[in-house]
Amino acid sequence: MDKILSGIKPTGKLTLGNYIGAIKNFSKIQYEGETFLFIADLHALTLPIDPVELSNNSRDICAYYLAAGLDPKHTTIFLQSTVCEHSEMAIILQNYLYMGELSRMTQFKDKSQKMDQNAIGLGLFAYPVLMAGDIVLYDAKRVPVGEDQGQHVEITRDLVKRFNHRYGDVLVMPKAEMVKVGARIMSLSDPTKKMSKSDPKGDIFLSDDLAVMRKKIMSAVTDTGHEVKYDVENKPGISNLMTIYGALKNKSFDEIEKEFEGKGYGDFKRAVADAVVEEMEPFKARYNEVIASGLVDQVLQEGAIRAKAVASKTLERVKRAVGLYNINK
Ligand code: AMP
Ligand code: TRP
Repeated sequence: MDKILSGIKPTGKLTLGNYIGAIKNFSKIQYEGETFLFIADLHALTLPIDPVELSNNSRDICAYYLAAGLDPKHTTIFLQSTVCEHSEMAIILQNYLYMGELSRMTQFKDKSQKMDQNAIGLGLFAYPVLMAGDIVLYDAKRVPVGEDQGQHVEITRDLVKRFNHRYGDVLVMPKAEMVKVGARIMSLSDPTKKMSKSDPKGDIFLSDDLAVMRKKIMSAVTDTGHEVKYDVENKPGISNLMTIYGALKNKSFDEIEKEFEGKGYGDFKRAVADAVVEEMEPFKARYNEVIASGLVDQVLQEGAIRAKAVASKTLERVKRAVGLYNINK
């Protein structure tokens, strides 16, 4: 059975983009393999974050995973920081990724450009090293992520190739996997920008009330004209709403265009809002139940034990391969 692995970083509030591009898909594919899903809390430290917010966000992501139908009996759900092999693996792997290639990563460039150039943490620069370690520790072949994380999986592939070339067939080659519709949900206030956790106006947060979600969709920026047609270039706003609608209703763009032929943007927006509310209402109710049940801590404790059992074996294999002296022969 193929190993499947992904993670979400507990910075900011989760968005509908995270739900469509990642979480919903995780629950759909979990039984296709041995699945590991974690909360990338060490990655969250690469930019300044309030400690209380970090730990609350971490708990919330676990609760959202469970609310989305991830089954902790099958899928190993854990916190990255509870499996120390992640940190140890990163220390080893940092020697096989180069400063030139790390400095060309889009995420690093985007985030570091906005910062005081004298106060960019080493962790932000080395982000892909930690992420490569996350992936190889579980021998993951499939890495389901949204579009923005594709480059990080690509650099992991480069690392695996380089490492195996030097030491033999030690690491498993991963591959990024993206949902067909919804790998990049755009902001509702500026549909040329990604919906990100840091844009309160254009984002639908999973924590928003249903009425707020509806309102945000009804006031989403649309384009000139009145035809519901998929055309990212000329109709980025409508195309983004079509993507949201298509992903939630499992409909193709052709089907959506036919459904709304002769109708205006208003009718279409109402249908998108209905679709979002229909999906989010039970999801949010389950989230509240999970939070109230105390299940989160139990799942994360069991997950840590299961994840560690797998990660420690891989780390051992890597240590032997590079020649770290083994005192437990
Ligand atoms: P992050 O919020 O950066 O930790 O991302 C968690 C997961 O959600 C990753 O797989 C991202 O690629 C995915 N994701 C984040 N934002 C979006 C978006 N706007 N549309 C689709 N997927 C997204
Ligand atoms: N970098 C990812 C994000 O921001 C989170 C992440 C960390 C991840 N390690 C991973 C995703 C390993 C997939 C596999 O979304």
